[in-house]
Amino acid sequence: MKTYNLALIPGDGIGVDVTDAAMKVLGAVAKGRFAFETTSFPWSCEYYLKHGRMMPEDGIETLRGFDAIYLGAVGWPATVPDSVSLHGLLLPIRKAFNQYANIRPHRLLAGVEGPLKAEGFDILCIRENTEGEYSGAGGRVHEGKDNEVAVETSVFTRAGVERILRFGFEQARSRRGHLTSVTKSNAQKYSMVFWDEVTRELAAEYTDVTVSHMHIDAMVAKMVMAPQDLDVVVASNLFGDILTDLGAAIQGGLGFAASANINPDRSAPSMFEPVHGSAPDIAGKNIANPVAAIWSVAQMLDHLGEAEASAAVLSAIEAATANGIGIRPGLNTTDEITAAVIAALEA
Ligand code: NAD
Ligand code: IPM
Ligand code: MN
Repeated sequence: MKTYNLALIPGDGIGVDVTDAAMKVLGAVAKGRFAFETTSFPWSCEYYLKHGRMMPEDGIETLRGFDAIYLGAVGWPATVPDSVSLHGLLLPIRKAFNQYANIRPHRLLAGVEGPLKAEGFDILCIRENTEGEYSGAGGRVHEGKDNEVAVETSVFTRAGVERILRFGFEQARSRRGHLTSVTKSNAQKYSMVFWDEVTRELAAEYTDVTVSHMHIDAMVAKMVMAPQDLDVVVASNLFGDILTDLGAAIQGGLGFAASANINPDRSAPSMFEPVHGSAPDIAGKNIANPVAAIWSVAQMLDHLGEAEASAAVLSAIEAATANGIGIRPGLNTTDEITAAVIAALEA
């Protein structure tokens, strides 16, 4: 039996609640299939308050040896500014481990009705995860308050743009053969025009994939009005971030959207986490929806080569929602939803 070594970073707020739920499900699905060992790291805003940093100096090196990283959520803006906590933990992991493909599926689970009542959609959002608007380049120019200027530089490299689009084309090929590339090339004349050019170059190579070019503004309307027309969606770091909270919303809420930060060449571990954040407003109340976190476990299992276990987790989630468990906010507790998924797994 294979044994996987997993690094756990529960993080802050409901990150802790949903990681706990996700690990219970992992324990249940592992039975008779594989073994795993977890090492939990307390890196969080609380850790920051004690140590003055979000993770130890050698944190990245510590994580490098694991088969996968599972993360709950990071951020507690009441005590640590988000720009400090996220740039001290989550974002450096994505970058250091070249987890350039952020895969975020959006579809309705059986029994769940989104607030917009959108139906029949199955979108795979592929978000560029290491550069673009999140490059961290820029600065504040201090020339007295009246003349202050803040610059945030987006960095789009050919290697970075090409590899994420190629990843998207490959996914489209294995799905319904359609790729939507999202930009704002009517207003952003360098990075997004460049992105469009690379998309066209690759489209000439992937003649079996049909390509739509959409601007982000039209795209958000499309996701609301006709999400069923979309298949694979490829977007830059920031646009992908925004689109996937919208994707979560049409799925029924933030508690339903899973996320895999993949290093496709497997030169370093990949990381799995729900799309949502630490939700301070509901933290510690046992009401967070753990479905997104559990779905992320399914993504992790798939990445580890445990396709059958991954499918079992997804069907167990869907068996629970089909039974009406967790389909609306406030209907069930975190524990009840987790128990229903485990019961379906063990049935
Ligand atoms: P959020 O996703 O934490 O919460 C947005 C809203 O969705 C809140 O009303 C929350 O209660 C609700 N929600 C989120 N997850 C839910 C779940 N599983 N079940 C039920 N309701 C859920 O976004 P935010 O409020 O903008 O951010 C809070 C903190 O989390 C900030 O520090 C932010 O930077 C951080 N954040 C971290 C991550 C991450 O670690 N991957 C992602 C997003 C936000
Ligand atoms: C996400 C989050 C992060 C992001 C934040 C917390 C930096 O919103 O994973 O979607 O923007 O990538
Ligand atoms: Mn986000």
